[in-house]
Amino acid sequence: MTGDAATGRQLTYTCQGCHGVEGYRNIYPHYHVPMIGGQSPEYLVNALHEYKRGTRRHPTMQAQAQSFTDQDIADIAAFLSELSK
Ligand code: HEC
Repeated sequence: MTGDAATGRQLTYTCQGCHGVEGYRNIYPHYHVPMIGGQSPEYLVNALHEYKRGTRRHPTMQAQAQSFTDQDIADIAAFLSELSK
């Protein structure tokens, strides 16, 4: 499934408060929130599917992932993985 980075940018708007995607900085340095910008698309797709299926447990991330279709996840991964370039 090919992701569309432009759509992914819109879908990740709500992620930035926690993940600090814009500019790669974690705006809450006292919380452990993994960096997601610049990861490989496969890594991001896998992580989001694991939350969606419930094989990886975290209430917030499961809620986020469950609201996405497979296409949404591909789009998100396409956008986030481009941030390192
Ligand atoms: C309320 C805060 C919050 C929001 C909003 C949030 N996340 Fe997360 N995210 C976290 C935390 C905390 C973790 C680490 C959870 C764990 O230990 O499994 C995480 C983990 C992840 C991971 C796994 C990273 C890794 O290296 O294993 C991905 C991918 C991810 N989030 C993507 C997103 C996306 C995409 C969005 C927006 C749609 C989003 N997150 C919104 C807090 C948040």
